Amino acid sequence: MINLQKLKNGFEYLDISNKSAHAKIALQGAHIFHYAPHNSNPLLWLSQASDFELGKAIRGGVPICWPWFGMSENPELPQHGFARTSMWQLSASSEIDAHTTELTLTLKHSKSSLKLWPYRFELSLHVRVSDTLTMELKTTNLDEKPFKITQALHSYFQISDISHVHIEGLGKSSYFDALTQEQYQQNGDIEFYQEVDRIYQGIKHEIRLVDIKRQIVIKNEGSSSAVVWNPWIEKCARMSAMNNDAYRTMVCIESANALEDAKAIAPLQSHTLKAYIEVTNL
Ligand code: BG6
Repeated sequence: MINLQKLKNGFEYLDISNKSAHAKIALQGAHIFHYAPHNSNPLLWLSQASDFELGKAIRGGVPICWPWFGMSENPELPQHGFARTSMWQLSASSEIDAHTTELTLTLKHSKSSLKLWPYRFELSLHVRVSDTLTMELKTTNLDEKPFKITQALHSYFQISDISHVHIEGLGKSSYFDALTQEQYQQNGDIEFYQEVDRIYQGIKHEIRLVDIKRQIVIKNEGSSSAVVWNPWIEKCARMSAMNNDAYRTMVCIESANALEDAKAIAPLQSHTLKAYIEVTNL
């Protein structure tokens, strides 16, 4: 079942339920802010202090960073681009079977987007809600000139506690550390003892977020970079829409095209970034 829900302030989202899962997707940003297969607690973390306000990104779920990841060359432009605060359209929906619902949300260039980024485009997010969650973010260049994008499906995952989790699958990758602005080599699993803000590169394998009772597996296509982020104590206290202890129950593993994994897209050509997320109970 797909229901359009509206909060008192006018904020609209789609409530999707089937025999395998429950999900919620805001029309602003095509932002998935809840996903729970019926055999598991929610996979996505959502800040208890999150604002559901028009023009402000939700803190949690899967913000879409596009057409740039992080800061643009022009520091006056919004961090992580404008897609996450733009209003998208539901362009298709289908209940494939009792266990599977598919939806497509679309964003096109507009007068306001052209002021921020001077290209005509179509961006679509195809979502498959079942016992797994699949997101396909397709960028089509509708302009006469080529353009280049960096982007991320900025997934916030719900965890039992930051001291109980580790990340497998990035053990042989190099990463750019956004805190020191230097390049390092990862050796072994990632554990968290401090702020982590890294762009892993040259990724060829699936990524596993291992918690006490469950493991979340992330498989990406059309991407060879992933961001791993936890703000830790001080940055968390400074962050908007985040309680002081929120860093303990979240970690971001973002399916990305960042740094040298940026994508140049020629006129009338497309690029698709795909993330496939599943949970297994341990
Ligand atoms: C991550 C970045 O992707 O997003 C962090 O690596 C940043 O540096 C975080 O703090 C959250 O960004 P924002 O714009 O949602 O506060």
